[in-house]
Amino acid sequence: MPTIHRRPRWAIAESVATPECVFANRRTVLAGLGLGAIAGAGLLPGTARAQAAEDAASRTASLYPVKRNDAYRIERPLTPEDVNSTYNNFYEFGSHKQIARAAQALTTHPWDIEIDGLVEKPGTIAFEDLLKRLPLEERLYRHRCVEAWSMTVPWSGFPLSALLAIAKPLSSARYLRFETFNDPSVAGGQKQVWYPWPYVEGVTMEEASNDLAFMVTGAYGKPLAKQFGAPLRLALPWKYGFKSIKSIRRISFTEKRPVSFWEEIAASEYGFWANVNPDVPHPRWSQAEERVLHTGERIPTQLFNGYAEEVAGLYSGLESEQLYR
Ligand code: MTE
Repeated sequence: MPTIHRRPRWAIAESVATPECVFANRRTVLAGLGLGAIAGAGLLPGTARAQAAEDAASRTASLYPVKRNDAYRIERPLTPEDVNSTYNNFYEFGSHKQIARAAQALTTHPWDIEIDGLVEKPGTIAFEDLLKRLPLEERLYRHRCVEAWSMTVPWSGFPLSALLAIAKPLSSARYLRFETFNDPSVAGGQKQVWYPWPYVEGVTMEEASNDLAFMVTGAYGKPLAKQFGAPLRLALPWKYGFKSIKSIRRISFTEKRPVSFWEEIAASEYGFWANVNPDVPHPRWSQAEERVLHTGERIPTQLFNGYAEEVAGLYSGLESEQLYR
């Protein structure tokens, strides 16, 4: 994510919140996180190597590839897997894009998801049990980061609305709040105490019920790689990428609007809605165009990232809100 100029109350250090700058000093930062040896020598910690055999990916591999849902095709070429899987935002593993190797330390089995708050059936469900209850499909989605780069990704998973049907929210539930794991012993980034861990995101119940809201369990015809947010992440393709929270551990149904990770850090730059709009610049740069990863091509950004027909109706009557930041 981009430079934070305003210092929040816990005084974020500019050097750690500035990916461009961090990128330039990547080795120093990795060393600071204790990840230098891993990144440099191409090694996984011994325990991580042993765990890999028992991870969610190997345990669910036989489910993939899943059938493509042709309603979600797009005209752009897919971003090659090797490009996507080596350019990721996952701050738990570092505030730069080359987190793939460090992310392999995450253990994804057992992986329980807590469902709580305003629901008929609060409780915990194991990731693999969830997969047994929900048919998986593949969708091709555009993915537009607030940093003005974009990809096209073949995600596998199930609509978020299918999870709502299992959880049975009460009529008083107005929002869904998602929370990522919090384990600084495997995710070095979480040792950086000036960030408000764990990563949190939220959507309204109406947004969650929209067909496009997708719970992702796989990509490129395989179980989700750890750097993509294994074993379970969100994909909200009409919003800036930071809304698509990775490695979800908890889903809460609330009456109160959740405050997301980036909103807590810099509310004037990253709001609750974060819908893509080329005509509303980020306070520090234009959102009119995006850089397509791999080709480097610059193309015009589309309103709601090209999904206006599907989602524009969600926002009628909400014009007084900051819908595009
Ligand atoms: N989820 C968690 N838990 N931690 C993160 O740092 N980064 C977000 C989002 N979800 C992030 C996250 C941002 S800024 C983007 S652009 C996307 O994940 C990146 O997803 P990708 O690496 O699959 O492209």
